[in-house]
Amino acid sequence: MAPARQQVTNALAETPVSRDGAAMYLGVCYYPEHWPRERWETDARMMREAGLSRVRIGEFAWSRIEPEPGRFEWQWLDEAVEVLHAAGLGIIMGTPTATPPKWLVDRMPDMVARDRNGNPRGFGSRRHYCFSHAGYRQEAVRITRAVAERYGQHPGVVSWQTDNEYGCHDTVQSFSPAARDAFRRWLAERYGSAQALNAAWGNVFWSMEYRSFDEIELPNLTVTEANPAHWLAFRRFSSDQVIAFNRAQVDILRELSPGRVITHNAMGFYAGYDHHDLAADLDVLGWDSYPLGFLEMFRFSDAEKLAFARQGQPDIAAFHHDLYRGCARDERWSVLEQQPGPVNWARHNPAPLPGMVALWTLEAIAHGAELVSYFRWRQAPFAQEQMHAGLLRPDGEPAPALAEARSAADAVEQLGEIGAPLRDAAVVFAYDAEWMTQIQPQGEGLSALWAAFDCYRALRKLGLNVDIVPPSADLSRYRLVVVPCLPIVPDALVRSLEAFEGALVVGPRSGSRDIDFRIPDKLPPGPLQLLLPMKVTRSESLRPGLEHVGDGWSIARWLDHVETVMEPELVAQDGVVACWKAGLRRYLAAWPQGALLDQVVARAARDAGLRTVELPEGLRLRRSARYSFVFNYSAEAQDIPDAISGQPIIGTRKLPQAGIAIIPNR
Ligand code: GAL
Repeated sequence: MAPARQQVTNALAETPVSRDGAAMYLGVCYYPEHWPRERWETDARMMREAGLSRVRIGEFAWSRIEPEPGRFEWQWLDEAVEVLHAAGLGIIMGTPTATPPKWLVDRMPDMVARDRNGNPRGFGSRRHYCFSHAGYRQEAVRITRAVAERYGQHPGVVSWQTDNEYGCHDTVQSFSPAARDAFRRWLAERYGSAQALNAAWGNVFWSMEYRSFDEIELPNLTVTEANPAHWLAFRRFSSDQVIAFNRAQVDILRELSPGRVITHNAMGFYAGYDHHDLAADLDVLGWDSYPLGFLEMFRFSDAEKLAFARQGQPDIAAFHHDLYRGCARDERWSVLEQQPGPVNWARHNPAPLPGMVALWTLEAIAHGAELVSYFRWRQAPFAQEQMHAGLLRPDGEPAPALAEARSAADAVEQLGEIGAPLRDAAVVFAYDAEWMTQIQPQGEGLSALWAAFDCYRALRKLGLNVDIVPPSADLSRYRLVVVPCLPIVPDALVRSLEAFEGALVVGPRSGSRDIDFRIPDKLPPGPLQLLLPMKVTRSESLRPGLEHVGDGWSIARWLDHVETVMEPELVAQDGVVACWKAGLRRYLAAWPQGALLDQVVARAARDAGLRTVELPEGLRLRRSARYSFVFNYSAEAQDIPDAISGQPIIGTRKLPQAGIAIIPNR
């Protein structure tokens, strides 16, 4: 039975502010089930007053929707939907599959995932399911269908979020019997015969040969490392399981809720599944932006952690905006969760500087987000996240971020359409590159994802607009392409690079493996030898202290020894070559980082004819067809460099800490 509907303004018809012709909204994540019924109208009104027009609900509410097997309690959710809709909020409804209730786990105890040691990942928090468990897949489909039947046609429901943060709490890989059986089937389909698999993986090594797919175990619990090809196959399989799980929900939502935007919220610095594949099934790819938490938890230096403790390192949020825009179909992406204050999960959880929440919001808009939604509306006084800030305090009064959301909403309205992004440089990234470097780092901390981040940062420090794109992307719209570290090079990339006329930088380990983790017969960079007349004859990783020092830069962490007719461009004092060059093409033989990387990208940008700006520490620039956006991430006031001309319509040319200036292009 469909819920009763009030005749009120359809939230779909709300006039949003627009971005290059597309809609642009601010919103918030709300949990009506956490608060007394009498409060909901007040909350909805306060959301509208804060300039919000979207609200995400329902993604963890399974135990309230279906308190007992087959007994549904819709009344409360019907009312919540009506209250929010009546206030003019467009609803993003979550499917509640990240939190299967206790009764379900008790009925199907083997639905839980198993960790690497084979231990069950039990009930009592969330994400306690195995993607490969057929029974749980059916349950996920059942609850999705129930919610979609109930609300799929409701005029207030404008969007669906599938599940919540696939992979959060390290949950993509499961080492359960269900995963093992599904892995065997996946391998059989991919390789056809055990003999073919043995040959592809090189299982003659250490007598690892299999006679049938039924003999193949998961790659955990081996005495020493399992075959890297085995791990790579398991990473691909685990990713495919996520994609299939998601697709089962998407199919139902498309059938029962046509015309609504289907989305999912990805995470930061996370490559557990292939986001290019996931995004292919979604209308909009969302991600969850926690700049301060990420700064604390990921590999930034102590100096950076301190300097940017209340702002976030200036490239963290933007990197993900551009990464997920590059993953998304038609470049449609959003921020489904935006940090509004201290979080509860990092090593240290400081409060942002006043102004940062508005800055993060407008930066997302500047990069083309169609929605920025804060997590969460009101701080919960109970359970795991009671120390996590909201737009409201636990007592229901405004927290500092509420006013910042309002000021961001005003700015968004004032800007109107920001126009298409300008395209200067592309960084090529693939998820299997990160899997490869995780499986076989060959030196501490060497990671393709972080190589991409460092290249992005180096380009962005020059004031360039940077897209992060898959190997299949159309590269002809860029003047500079950087391939930071791409071990497996698909043919399509070789073809588009052959046609590409701009400046190219290829980084170490690129073309160093085939699809089954084997060194190419003609040595790295494998298929890229069609563009780069060279061979990597030997690679080594370098401990701290083994650097080769150049003129203000050094070769650190990794070095490819190269045989080539290319010209040595950057040579260390001891004669070791860091970067080789032929025309507009370069091979960076050292790990892409630090002053060396800065030198290489600056030279490549110059060759590409790109106009660069030396930005002061902590200042960042983003240009769209209509505006230049300048963001001050430093804790000091900063002047906008003269090279960025014009008078801001928002902000001033002297930017205070956490300041933003938006300058119309002339
Ligand atoms: C996200 C998650 C939310 C909430 C938030 C806290 O990872 O999607 O449900 O836990 O973190 O920062």
